[in-house]
Amino acid sequence: MLDKATFNSFRMIAYEKGGIALGDNKEALVNTRVSKRMRELRIEDPRVYLDLLMRDASGNELVKFLDCITTNLTSFFREAHHFDLLRDHARECLQRGQKRFRFWSAACSSGEEPYSMAITLAEALDGAGADVRILATDLSTKVLDRARAGIYASEQVDKVPKSMRNRLFEPTPDGRLQVRQGLKSVVAFKRLNLATPPYPMSGPLDVIFCRNVLIYFDNLIRARLLADMYRLLKPGGLLLVGHAEGLTGMVSDFKSVKPTVYRKPS
Ligand SMILES: C[S@@+](CC[C@H](N)C(=O)[O-])C[C@H]1O[C@@H](n2cnc3c(N)ncnc32)[C@H](O)[C@@H]1O
Repeated sequence: MLDKATFNSFRMIAYEKGGIALGDNKEALVNTRVSKRMRELRIEDPRVYLDLLMRDASGNELVKFLDCITTNLTSFFREAHHFDLLRDHARECLQRGQKRFRFWSAACSSGEEPYSMAITLAEALDGAGADVRILATDLSTKVLDRARAGIYASEQVDKVPKSMRNRLFEPTPDGRLQVRQGLKSVVAFKRLNLATPPYPMSGPLDVIFCRNVLIYFDNLIRARLLADMYRLLKPGGLLLVGHAEGLTGMVSDFKSVKPTVYRKPS
């Protein structure tokens, strides 16, 4: 088990390097996650691991540490109403003559979220000759590798409408399903730390999905993140957050459309 001082040091690193604010009560979680990494390295004492982490000039161990601290739970079409909204928004823009569309999945985990966006947009903008790009970013290199591979168990893909499944996925020899190249080419995966705005993009973006990641951050980081997402969105553009992450009480120029949905005023 971790002693208090070692736990606090891990907490400090998670906060300073990943913006991840771990509460006092997260000792057991940190212990379980760090133990897993220690077993891989055949280290028994958490203080030895902490020392290795602090001395690692390459930054590689820091990436592994942050990988094991974060939770990557996600699924295709999670919070399905956001994808209905994405479809309607894209269609409205198309009707107004827009041809170039840019989107961001800001904590994309293993890819289910940006691929669900790409599937929705493929359907919504089918045949319109639109130029669609989705930037998908995450802190964790481990999930980004999985996202780039785009291979999922068939049960994971169950929520993808049947009509789209055969068109956009192909079977792998071991019975799983892989996102076809056509859909993959719409999504660019990059590593990006949301805790360190300003972000290195210029926008303007149509819709940002920033879901189930704000929970990791304190209000200071949230406020900076929101201000930079505001900068990146087009007037009229949408920001979607997770169901437990309303911006109530946050300093922000966004207008609330309904719970979890915010608009940059036109
Ligand atoms: C629970 S998943 C959410 C995935 C997806 N957005 C969804 O709602 O299904 C949270 C993701 O946030 C990522 N994350 C945590 N801290 C981050 C940071 N500072 N910068 C970028 N991504 C971060 C984690 O690696 C993880 O993949």
